[in-house]
Amino acid sequence: MAASPRSAGLLRLVAFVFALVTTWIFIRSFDGFNMKTIRLPRWLGSVPKEIRVVKTKCGLNKPCPDNFFAFKLSSGAANVVGPSMCFENHVIMSPVKNNVGRGLNIALVNGTTGTVLRQNSFDMYSGDPTLLEKFLKEIPDSTLVLVASYDDPGTKMTDDIRKLFTNLGSSHAKQLGFRDSWVFLGAKDLKSKSPFEQFLKNDPNSNKYEGWPELLEMEGCVPRKVF
Ligand SMILES: *[C@@H]1O[C@H](CO)[C@@H](O)[C@H](O)[C@H]1NC(C)=O
Repeated sequence: MAASPRSAGLLRLVAFVFALVTTWIFIRSFDGFNMKTIRLPRWLGSVPKEIRVVKTKCGLNKPCPDNFFAFKLSSGAANVVGPSMCFENHVIMSPVKNNVGRGLNIALVNGTTGTVLRQNSFDMYSGDPTLLEKFLKEIPDSTLVLVASYDDPGTKMTDDIRKLFTNLGSSHAKQLGFRDSWVFLGAKDLKSKSPFEQFLKNDPNSNKYEGWPELLEMEGCVPRKVF
């Protein structure tokens, strides 16, 4: 028997609500979606006025305000997994991009535009530390400096390099040593200490891995050039 127009309309409504609910369940079960930004329909009868899915830049826990850049830095895990750097949703360095190396991984970003200027990794175990010293001395004004360690950032460290990092706002560069974990975001002509720094000493009593401390992860919002 053919459905009357009335029951066909009801059927369509039921199908619509069913689709809505299954979509919601699907989105909910999808890891990494930020539920806080999804408005749920008020069940039957009301069509959602707005379904907005906002995924934060670099997967941050909460989005950055206007005029701030989102960033996330991870140091390497022991000598096994390389570090990664995300800035404004752009992965600058990572094992997948195959542009990280043991030692210190450093990216330079224009503090006004957020454009990546340079990135490089410096072998601090057997490399030539004057390469890093030259790199740091040539950082242009108003540049953000992102740093992530991998395996050993300390063996070839020099006092001159420590001083250059300290001038970028680092508190821990002066004690950086063999196999320490370090993530840091500083800036050229920063007049104070950067709030964006984490450091773990290589210490057999507290190391997470055999021979290395735990990897470090740091995320945050850095203001567009206000220094
Ligand atoms: C950064 O961007 C600003 C604005 O475009 C530009 O004036 C400045 O020269 C850039 N700095 C560097 C080091 O590229």
